[in-house]
Amino acid sequence: MRAIDIIMKKRGTNVRDGNGKKVLAGSTTLTKEEIKFLVDSYVKGEIPDYQMSSFLMAVYFNGMTFEETGALTDSMLHSGDVIELHGERGIPSLDKEIFVDKHSTGGVGDKISLPLAPIVAACGVKDPMMSGRALGHTGGTLDKLESIEGYNVNLTVEEFKAGIVENGFAMMGQTPKIVPADKKMYALRDVTATVESVPLITGSILSKKVAEGADALVFDVKYGTGAFMKTKIDAEELATFLVKTAKAMGKKAAALITDMNTPLGRTVGNFLEIEETVECLQGKGPADVMELTYQLGAQMILLAGKAKTKEEALEMEKKAVESGKALEIFLANVKTQGGNPEKLMSQIGKRRSQFRTEIRAKQDGFITLDAFKTGLAGVYLGVGRNKSDDKVCADAGIIMHKKTGDSVKKGDLILEVFGKDGECLEPAVKKLEEEAISYSDKEPEKSELIFKVIE
Ligand code: URA
Repeated sequence: MRAIDIIMKKRGTNVRDGNGKKVLAGSTTLTKEEIKFLVDSYVKGEIPDYQMSSFLMAVYFNGMTFEETGALTDSMLHSGDVIELHGERGIPSLDKEIFVDKHSTGGVGDKISLPLAPIVAACGVKDPMMSGRALGHTGGTLDKLESIEGYNVNLTVEEFKAGIVENGFAMMGQTPKIVPADKKMYALRDVTATVESVPLITGSILSKKVAEGADALVFDVKYGTGAFMKTKIDAEELATFLVKTAKAMGKKAAALITDMNTPLGRTVGNFLEIEETVECLQGKGPADVMELTYQLGAQMILLAGKAKTKEEALEMEKKAVESGKALEIFLANVKTQGGNPEKLMSQIGKRRSQFRTEIRAKQDGFITLDAFKTGLAGVYLGVGRNKSDDKVCADAGIIMHKKTGDSVKKGDLILEVFGKDGECLEPAVKKLEEEAISYSDKEPEKSELIFKVIE
């Protein structure tokens, strides 16, 4: 097999139509073997970046079938370690369980994983949760967890499994041995304008999720200014690819398509989002975060076989919060992973950066708070990072007193802003005042938080 032949097949050929006009004839579907050859050889360094770039661009233009996407995902998955949760090398006491995890395509103020994992764990679900870090305008679950003093996300696989046995879930970052193909391919896609391809995104997300050992996956595919996919139609295409490809790989799957035009909840930040998580687990969380958490959780509970209907699952989740069991499990996980639950609870509502300012309404009206611009202001403040080796600040962030659709009077408090230092406040405030917040006389049209569920 030769890489160039595979690239040519995916690229298609220039031919002339009946009028003599040059057209690109459709590319040919690749076989599993061809896709595996390409991925394996690339990881081993036997295919150079320029050939892989050319292949990625051919996929960008011509797409892939579900079968091809499945083969791509499978080849990427087997480029590294796959965590086994069943069988001899799994967790014997949980062998009969269906392990379920959730994946979000990323957003601003998206702390859903944090309340979700203990709530579903309280309902009997076993969740092997592997998360990522903040990058660009989007936040990262690992950075939020690390804002809890002592919390360790660098678990060994054995510690990860022990955590699931103890608390029903554990939280860790990806090890370098998980899907090395994605690390190499994503870095190349990033500099060759081939990130925005549904089959390539599917292969990238799904290979990493399957590698963590889950039997079932619930995807939160976001659309809007703060999301990777800007429109509902693109988000629906990605959600469909993720669900169908996951099922073709023998996994159970469902997806929610959700709004990310305005940040989720009341906070954007690392420790600030931990605070909001505690509020959610005390039943005092913002309505949007509670709703999305419960709806994603209900899908997880159903896929795990812990309830027969969505109504039953929702009821179980509400009871888990009202009884205090979900908060208890969250704090038990904090302890297991190296944090101090009592110290954490004593810091709620009190731990703040000393570098603080406020944004007040410049006029009367209804406001819109844009997720993307708010996320960028967060990066200036130290919540997120531009490059993967940038440091984040645990106490930086934004408390949103008003959000899209709220009416304000001139002088009302809209945002409290906390920086990593004094200097970052000015550019962040400029971004928020001039770009993230806008005013209108008319109430903006309400967009539904959950646009669609794909089961
Ligand atoms: N997130 C991923 O993990 N991979 C992609 O390709 C895009 C978003």
